[in-house]
Amino acid sequence: MGIKIGAIETRNRVFLAPMSGVTDEPFRTLAHAHGAGLVVSEMVASEELVNARPDMLRRALGAESLSPFVIQLAGREPHWMAEGVKVAQDMGAEIIDINMGCPAREVTGGLSGSALMRDLDHAERLIAAAVEASSVPVTLKMRLGWDHATLNAPELARRAEGQGIALVTVHGRTRCQFYGGKADWSAIAKVREAISIPLIANGDGASVADARDMLAKSGADGVMIGRGAYGRPWWPGVIAEGLDPGSGVAEPSIGEEAEIVIEHHERMLSHHGAHHGNRIARKHTGWAISRLSERQLLPDDEAAQWRAALLRTNDNAAVRSGLHELYDTVRERAAA
Ligand SMILES: Cc1cc2nc3c(=O)[nH]c(=O)nc-3n(C[C@H](O)[C@H](O)[C@H](O)COP(=O)(O)O)c2cc1C
Repeated sequence: MGIKIGAIETRNRVFLAPMSGVTDEPFRTLAHAHGAGLVVSEMVASEELVNARPDMLRRALGAESLSPFVIQLAGREPHWMAEGVKVAQDMGAEIIDINMGCPAREVTGGLSGSALMRDLDHAERLIAAAVEASSVPVTLKMRLGWDHATLNAPELARRAEGQGIALVTVHGRTRCQFYGGKADWSAIAKVREAISIPLIANGDGASVADARDMLAKSGADGVMIGRGAYGRPWWPGVIAEGLDPGSGVAEPSIGEEAEIVIEHHERMLSHHGAHHGNRIARKHTGWAISRLSERQLLPDDEAAQWRAALLRTNDNAAVRSGLHELYDTVRERAAA
C-alpha cells in the first residue's frame, strides 16, 4: 500500500504536495499527524541552504519528527546542488527532492525549477550531482514539459532513473500553463511507460474519486495532493483511507475538525510568532471557512461575516474564541 523510496516505505500512497507559503512546518505537522503518506518541505534554493544559519533553517524546514523527513531543493548549479544536498542531509533529511516543476518567473528566470526542462542535458548533470552527493534517496518533481510542443517529461524521467533517482512526481501541466487549464492525468501515462521506479501523479486531485481516476489514467503508484488540502491538512490522509482502508484516517467530525483548525492556528502563532503568525493564519482560516461553505454547513452571508470578523483582526485571542464559536454554531446546527 505504501510506496518504496529506496529503503524507505511510506505508510500510504497519498502525499501532500510541497507548496511554498502554505505547507510550512505547522501545516506539514498536522498533515503528517492526520495520515498523509509523505510531506515535503517547501522548496529551498540550494545556495540559500548552504549559506543560511542552520538554526534558522531548522526552524523554517521543520524537523525529523515528520519522518520520513523530506527537504526539497531547487537549483541550477551542480556544485551548489551537491553542497545543498550535504547540508540537507546534515539537517537530518531522509529523502531529498529536486524541484524541476516550479513555474515562477523568479525561479525559471534563474534557470531552475521548470526551466530545467528546457535543457535536459543540464538537468541530467544536476541530478547526477545531487545523487552523487547524497547517501539518502533523491526524488524528482517535474511538469509534463515546458510547453505542449515539448512534452519531454518521459525523457527527463528516463534519464533521471538512469542517474539513480528513486521516485518521480509529475504535475500534469506544462510550465507555460502555470496553474491554468486542467491537469492532464493521461499524459502522465507516457512517463509510466518510460520508467520502472515509483511514479506519483499530481495536479487537481481533490477527492477519493479524483485519486482513483488519476491512478487509472496515469498508471502511477500514488498521488500527490496540493490545493485540495487548503483549509484541511487532514485531507491527504482521508483520501488515502478512501483508496486503501486502514492506511489513512477517517474524515473528522465537525468537532474534530474544529480542534484541528484551532490547533493549526495555535501552531502558526508559535512557529511564526504572534504578529507574523496572525497574518499567515488568515489565508488558512479563510480556506477553512470556505470548506464549511462548500459543504453547505455555513450560508454564504454568514461565511462573509466570519471572514470579516476573523481575517481582519490582530487580536489572536479573538480569533481563537471566534473559531470556537463558529464551529460550535456549525456543529449545533448539523446536530439539530
Ligand atoms: C502556493 C503554491 C506553492 C507551491 N510551491 C511549490 C514548491 O515549493 N515546490 C514544488 O515542487 N511545487 C510547488 N507548488 C506546486 C504543487 O506542489 C503542485 O505541483 C501543484 O499545486 C499542482 O497540484 P494541485 O493541483 O494538487 O495543487 C506550489 C503550488 C502552489 C499552489
